[in-house]
Amino acid sequence: MFPLNRNRRLRTNEAIRSLVRETIISPNDFIVPLFVVEGKGIKEEIPSMPNYFRMSLDNIEKEVKELWNLGLKSVLLFVKVADNLKDNKGTEALNPNGLMQRAIKTVKNATPGMLVMTDVALDPFSSFGHDGIVENGQIANDITSAILAEMSVSHAHAGADFVAPSDMMDGRILEIRDALEDAGYINTGILAYSAKYASAHYGPFRDALDSAPVDLVDVPKDKKTYQMDYHNRIEAIRETLMDIEEGADIVMVKPGIAYLDIVREVKNAVEVPVAVYQVSGEYAMIKAASQRGWLDHDAVMMEQVTAIKRAGADMIASYFAKDVVKLIS
Ligand code: PBG
Repeated sequence: MFPLNRNRRLRTNEAIRSLVRETIISPNDFIVPLFVVEGKGIKEEIPSMPNYFRMSLDNIEKEVKELWNLGLKSVLLFVKVADNLKDNKGTEALNPNGLMQRAIKTVKNATPGMLVMTDVALDPFSSFGHDGIVENGQIANDITSAILAEMSVSHAHAGADFVAPSDMMDGRILEIRDALEDAGYINTGILAYSAKYASAHYGPFRDALDSAPVDLVDVPKDKKTYQMDYHNRIEAIRETLMDIEEGADIVMVKPGIAYLDIVREVKNAVEVPVAVYQVSGEYAMIKAASQRGWLDHDAVMMEQVTAIKRAGADMIASYFAKDVVKLIS
């Protein structure tokens, strides 16, 4: 007797396929990263990120209104800082009138309902391009965490809803949570980059912010003493559980596509929402191959964001957010 079960019955046409579909992408899935620069009227394309831009505050204002109208309700802010404002301690990060602080207010004024998340790490402000303070050729953990905590309070004061520490110092989530509580920002959330790997997929982002580690003696050439070793899996669970214990509201795995095994394991291990960052290099690969006609841009984009969600992402930080939402609307 021929098999009673024919799996192809559930794939016969689009109607039945859509009926049994397990993973659906919607605007609610996305956090939109935005790159902010000083100036007026600036909207400059990032060479290694086609159709993605650094924008001055006036254009950020227009952009967030457009995002809001598309149904995108969360942004993650990054700032590009002039070289003359950078130092080892990232002093400019604490400037109450700094670009980040002004960007937060600009977004909140333009779109009061928009959830504003901010990157917390020293690299855009660091003369050495590191997420922490460089001391004797090393990245100093505890003095860095103290500054990250001050930075978080400064962002909360400017109106940020969530701070997103992307630095991977040990113990910084607790330090940040304590500082926010002490300052009265009890409702400011923490999205922790918990399992962030030392990945070669961040290149275009470092172009966007001009934030790559500098090539100097006594300055580590890479971020491998703080970001995770990509050969490791179990360590990701440990990092994530520790961040939750320290007070993280949402945890993140980063990058996306090459780390979906980690996403699934983290999703199965925790009871807080899991975010995934589909990073700049993932964006660049799809853009570059499709510009050459080697890949179907929209099809590959949808397949990859869906794969990230299927793996366990409750939300995705992605440069494709706008493209996806326009495509599916
Ligand atoms: C830095 C930071 C990086 C990204 C987000 N925050 C780069 C890095 O760790 O060097 C990468 C994002 C991307 O590649 O899209 N704290």
